[in-house]
Amino acid sequence: MREERRRSQKAQSERSSEMKIERDTKTGGADSVPNLIAIASGKGGVGKTWFSVTLAHALANEGKKVLLFDGDLGLANVDVQLGLMPKRDLNDVIRGRLSLDKVTQHYEEGNFDIVAGRSGQASLSSLPSQRLSALREQITDICSQYDVVLIDLGAGVDRTVRMLSASATQTLLITTDEPTSLTDAYAFIKLGNAAGLSKNVSVVVNQSSSVSEGEKTYKTLLKACENFLRLAPPLAGIIRLDPRVKDTIRHQTPLLIRSPNSEAAEDVEKIARYVGKIITQAKRKLAGR
Ligand SMILES: Nc1ncnc2c1ncn2[C@@H]1O[C@H](COP(=O)(O)OP(=O)(O)OP(=O)(O)O)[C@@H](O)[C@H]1O
Ligand SMILES: [Mg+2]
Repeated sequence: MREERRRSQKAQSERSSEMKIERDTKTGGADSVPNLIAIASGKGGVGKTWFSVTLAHALANEGKKVLLFDGDLGLANVDVQLGLMPKRDLNDVIRGRLSLDKVTQHYEEGNFDIVAGRSGQASLSSLPSQRLSALREQITDICSQYDVVLIDLGAGVDRTVRMLSASATQTLLITTDEPTSLTDAYAFIKLGNAAGLSKNVSVVVNQSSSVSEGEKTYKTLLKACENFLRLAPPLAGIIRLDPRVKDTIRHQTPLLIRSPNSEAAEDVEKIARYVGKIITQAKRKLAGR
């Protein structure tokens, strides 16, 4: 009997957490945190993790205190790209063993902090709502200790991605010029729009053969959004296809150390300045409420 009551209470509290997540998501991030930036993509393998790492580094080089959070638990790879062997990771937080601040570690070479994920673990998307809500609260709390917090999200637009994206002041949606990547970016915006998120989405075109080609790619996506969704997501920036990106990933060394004068480095630094402005605006808006 007691066991039954316990189960029913648990189910009830699960349901109310689930409803809160959906409600918060629908309000387009009513509780969005001004210095939290999410990095997302419709299709996988477009360069989210590499971009997140390089953006974190560029912002740290500007003197900002940065935390990079690996939110792609199923296929975590921030630590792999940086050649780190984390002793603690997000999995310890999700299992309730450690609090989020206990699993952050300082990445000396880049002068920013990271929260590592763990590849091969159950993905964040299968997390019970209550745990997801608790995690979100911890993320919100930890943001107050940093100038910028970046979350590298898993590809797609599942419940976890929607919730974390809603908490962010801006979601940088990465696409390439490949038709499948563009179609999936459009689907991300469309589904996000249905959940009330799209007003906070801006586009990054990655692996572009030139800046003008990148602009064309962005305009193709923009046109589809304007025509079918009545939305006009702004362009956050274009990153050129650069062989030095592969080279740095292979050597597990950040691009801004190995090839600081490369085209891709220059492009990410430009986006870092855009992100800085977005955060300043969001903070001002919050202060003037
Ligand atoms: N600007 C670029 N120039 C050249 N190659 C790039 C560029 N950006 C990304 N790449 C290539 O794309 C590959 C995939 O990058 P990454 O692992 O960061 O993608 P991802 O979106 O995080 O993938 P997943 O969805 O699997 O997490 C990298 O290994 C790199 O070789
Ligand atoms: Mg990745």
